[in-house]
Amino acid sequence: SDSYPNLKRDSRFKEVSADDVKFFQGLLGEGSAVLDGVTQNTGEEDFEAYNSDWMKKYRGQCRLVLKPATTEHVSKISKYCNENMLAVVPQGGNTGLVGGSVPVFDEIVLSLSKMNNVRSFDDVSGVLVADAGVILQQADEHVANHNHIFPLDLGAKGSCQIGANVATNAGGLRLLRYGSMHGNILGLEVVLPDGTIVDDLGTLRKNNTGYDLKQLFIGAEGTIGIITAISILCPQRSNAVNVAYFGLESYQKVQDAFKEAKKQLGEILSAFELMDHQSQDLYRQASGAKLPLEGDHPFYCLIETSGSNTEHDKEKLDSFLEHVLGEEIVSDGVVSENETQLQSLWACREGISEAGQHWGGVYKYDLSIPLTKLYELVEECRELFQNNGLMHAEDEKFPVKEVVGYGHMGDSNLHLNVAVRRYDKEVEKVLEPWVYEWVAKRKGSISAEHGLGIAKKDYIGYSRSETMVRLMKDIKKLYDPNGIMNPYKYI
Ligand code: FAD
Ligand code: MLT
Ligand code: ZN
Repeated sequence: SDSYPNLKRDSRFKEVSADDVKFFQGLLGEGSAVLDGVTQNTGEEDFEAYNSDWMKKYRGQCRLVLKPATTEHVSKISKYCNENMLAVVPQGGNTGLVGGSVPVFDEIVLSLSKMNNVRSFDDVSGVLVADAGVILQQADEHVANHNHIFPLDLGAKGSCQIGANVATNAGGLRLLRYGSMHGNILGLEVVLPDGTIVDDLGTLRKNNTGYDLKQLFIGAEGTIGIITAISILCPQRSNAVNVAYFGLESYQKVQDAFKEAKKQLGEILSAFELMDHQSQDLYRQASGAKLPLEGDHPFYCLIETSGSNTEHDKEKLDSFLEHVLGEEIVSDGVVSENETQLQSLWACREGISEAGQHWGGVYKYDLSIPLTKLYELVEECRELFQNNGLMHAEDEKFPVKEVVGYGHMGDSNLHLNVAVRRYDKEVEKVLEPWVYEWVAKRKGSISAEHGLGIAKKDYIGYSRSETMVRLMKDIKKLYDPNGIMNPYKYI
């Protein structure tokens, strides 16, 4: 594959034949459930959405897409593929950022998009049971009708799927408040590579009977089985939600503001997000939006509060504002007055992902770094590019446009993005392994929330010991002895 010059197709995998297509058509029916470029003259453009990732950085050559409608279907497909050595890539909304959701060579894409029913919601316990292919935003709207909230929110909510959110252990914008998938997932239904259906779709909060096997599939990125349904604990939705957006003078002040926010907003704090000036400037240029504050500030942060009592929250937020402005921790700030304003403040944060690749492409690093040192990486990276003649904000001849830092400050999770005009080997050589070494030296993680996919798999050793990698490989062998599930990736 052109995208992967250093990889060779694993010759143990069979190429999809007309007989295979016939089997799948017999199972799923012809038409919309099977996109077939093996026996049909289906054009490459029809496969584009399945072969190409969100960043337009990775590209596979799949010629068969399957869209099962039931867990039984997934089971029969897996069993057949396992017996016939056909490699498979599970795919959700294809918004993943590490090249994990698209084939490397001619793997079959198994799309979960037709498995999109809510199975049940219990408004006493708050437990939602739903098919893996339900879109995150639709899951949230469903529970919102019962005054609950899906405990995960992220910029790709309009297209990503809840099963895939579990498969990537997505973190997102409110992890600070609601915690990770590892805590909120109560049960999973999973199909193993040999077709076995593992029904662990329980709804219990407590269940200490043996190994908690479902945890293995959370963040496994489709390498040991296909998640077909999830059971998840949804908290009560807050009546009062407020968002504030601040300009700050230095990264030290951002840390001070975070400390104050925890101290003064405590239980109502639901997000604390960091954006540097450069990230907001890219967002402004790419979207044409007007930024919320007048003038330039080196840093910005977005604080969200969610509580059950509007007056109580407003009082807390007002005294917090008075304090951080009075003490000159923040230089300027604005608080949302209505839902539209709230959305436009959030857009300044969520819109950075799209803005980052507006000029042609983006190198994305998703890192856990101790908070005190978190922003130093961005400064050093910017310096590197300033000194080596690869970066210019305006001049098209230079591959790099800008280096930006933003992320989930409340979770010590930095997103370092290098916005480029084209993907370029020279730029890559500057960044890797430099970024990974920098992070490892500070005992951080080279993948905080996006996963390994194909982008990070060679660098796992910077964050995990040899012993741990060996144990992971043992698990992969145990669950997927033929290696048909999302090959060439992860470990
Ligand atoms: P895909 O991209 O289709 O798949 C992701 C991985 O999961 C692949 O390895 C795939 O093989 C596997 N997979 C998919 N479905 C299944 C299944 N049913 N069973 C087993 N394996 C499966 N991530 C964060 O953590 N936090 C963020 O704040 C965040 N914000 C984002 C904002 C934007 C604008 C974008 C584009 C992405 C963002 N992401 C974020 C990346 C995030 O990982 C994905 O958005 C999401 O979790 C993946 O969902 P998806 O349906 O698109 O999955
Ligand atoms: C985010 O926090 O915006 C996401 O993780 C996506 C990204 O890194 O751009
Ligand atoms: Zn993120």
